[in-house]
Amino acid sequence: MQQAGIVVAENEMKFVATEPERGRFRFEEADFLFSFAQRSGIKVRGHNFVWHRALPKWFESEVTSANAEQVLVQHIEAVGGRYAGRVHSWDVVNEAVEWKDGLPGGMRDSPWQKVLPVTETSLGYIEIAFRAARRVDPGALLVYNDYGMEAEDSASGKKRAAVLALLQRMQTAGVPLDALGIQSHISAGSHTAFGPEHAYGPGLRGMIAEARTMGLKVLITELDVNDRTQPADIPARDAAVAATYSAYLKQVLADDAVTAVLTWGITDRYTWLNSASGRKDKLHERCLPFDEDLKPTPAFAAEVEALQTRNIG
Ligand code: XIL
Repeated sequence: MQQAGIVVAENEMKFVATEPERGRFRFEEADFLFSFAQRSGIKVRGHNFVWHRALPKWFESEVTSANAEQVLVQHIEAVGGRYAGRVHSWDVVNEAVEWKDGLPGGMRDSPWQKVLPVTETSLGYIEIAFRAARRVDPGALLVYNDYGMEAEDSASGKKRAAVLALLQRMQTAGVPLDALGIQSHISAGSHTAFGPEHAYGPGLRGMIAEARTMGLKVLITELDVNDRTQPADIPARDAAVAATYSAYLKQVLADDAVTAVLTWGITDRYTWLNSASGRKDKLHERCLPFDEDLKPTPAFAAEVEALQTRNIG
C-alpha cells in the first residue's frame, strides 16, 4: 500500500493463461494475485479479455465465424464472472488498432478481426466484448487500451486519430466504455530532435483532453522508459530515464482525466524489455522504479515527486 495502490498481472490473466484448453479455465495465478491484493488492501486491474497475442493454440484450429461470439462471451463470463466486484478496471480490448495493416478504420488484422470483424457497419468483436464485460462485472471500469499514442511523431498522431475515431464510434453505438488506457512504453531521450522534455507533449495532451470531453477517464497502464538509446554509464542512463519519467508524468498528470498510473513491472530484474528488443550492448535495461537489486532508482524519486502533485494511486 505504501508503494502501490493497484496491481496488474503481466501475463497471468491473458487468454492463454486463463483458458489454455477450450472451456477449461485456470485461475491459480490470478487467484493468488487477488488474495495478495486483498490482504494488502490494494486494487487489481484486469488485463485482458481480447488481444491479438497470448491466444491459446486451439484458437486457430477451433474458432470460426460461427462459434467466435460464443467463445468470446463464454471466456468473459468465466474470467470476468469469477472476479466480478473485485476488479478496478478491465482492459476489455487491447491493441485493436494498427493503421499500417490497411484495413478500414485502421483496425488491426488480428485473429479476432478475422472471425468477428469490425466493418463499416458493425463494431464486431469490440461491441460483443464490451457489452459482455459490462453485463458480467458492472462495477469494473471498462477500458480500451493501446500503445504507440504517446509521442510527437506522425505515426503516433495517426494512431491517436484512429483510436479516438474508434472510441467515438463506440460511444455513438452505445457500447459501454469508461476509460482509455495509454500503455506508455516510452523511451529515454527519444526523438532527440525535440529533446527528451519535448518528446511527449501536445499530441498526448490533446488526446487526453479529447477523451475527457467524451466523458472518459484516462489510465496510464503500462509505463516504462527504455534506455536503449542511452550510453552504458549507469548514472547517465538513470538520469535520462528519470528525466523522461518526470517530463512524461508532468504532461499526463496535468489533466484531471488521468486517474491512475501503473508501471509495467516493479523492478528491472523482471522487465519484459530485456527479452523484447533490448539494448544492442546487451546490458540490462534500467527502466523501472526499482533496479535489479530492488533498490529505488532516480526514476522512483521522479515518479514520487510527480505523483505528489496529485492525489492518485
Ligand atoms: C508482455 C509481457 O510483459 C511479456 O512478458 C510477454 O512475453 C508479452 O507481453 N503490451 C501489453 C502487454 O498490453 O500485455 C505486453 O506484455 C506488453 C505490451
